[in-house]
Amino acid sequence: MLLPHLRQQPNPVVINVSSGLAFAPMAAAPIYSATKAALHSFTLSLRQQLVSVGVSVLEIVPPGVNTDLGGPGLHTWAVPVDEFADSIVARLAAGEQEIGYGTSEKIRQASRAELDARFEQINSH
Ligand SMILES: NC(=O)c1ccc[n+]([C@@H]2O[C@H](COP(=O)([O-])OP(=O)(O)OC[C@H]3O[C@@H](n4cnc5c(N)ncnc54)[C@H](OP(=O)(O)O)[C@@H]3O)[C@@H](O)[C@H]2O)c1
Repeated sequence: MLLPHLRQQPNPVVINVSSGLAFAPMAAAPIYSATKAALHSFTLSLRQQLVSVGVSVLEIVPPGVNTDLGGPGLHTWAVPVDEFADSIVARLAAGEQEIGYGTSEKIRQASRAELDARFEQINSH
């Protein structure tokens, strides 16, 4: 249903929004973390499936961002949303396919050892 519609558009793009927690889960949010890991995996496969029909599949990988996610005031410790959004939009315009910011940029490129260290850091308190 969606694919025929997308293919009729000029420069069709699917943008999925995952999380740094897709790469190193937060034990206190196991389902959220697991769904984001699944979304990351799905995005890789969908990108490959749709390359031949000209539909781009992109992934935004946010770190903690100061939005009302989960309720007002829960993310005031996190990066300012304007700062995050400006960086993401600039990198989308540059043609990048998978884009993080700050800690999530580091984590999406991390080695296995770095991911293990990040997991310990996130879950040690
Ligand atoms: N903020 C973070 O720290 C953070 C970190 C990692 C990943 N993310 C991801 O970034 C994405 C956006 O989150 P956010 O921080 O911007 O959260 P948010 O401020 O709570 O915004 C969520 C948005 O989703 C919309 N929405 C919720 N349920 C919906 C539904 N059933 N149908 C259609 N729209 C729906 C809401 O619309 P209404 O306003 O109309 O309700 C709202 O615009 C999410 O996928 C989140 O998991 C966020």
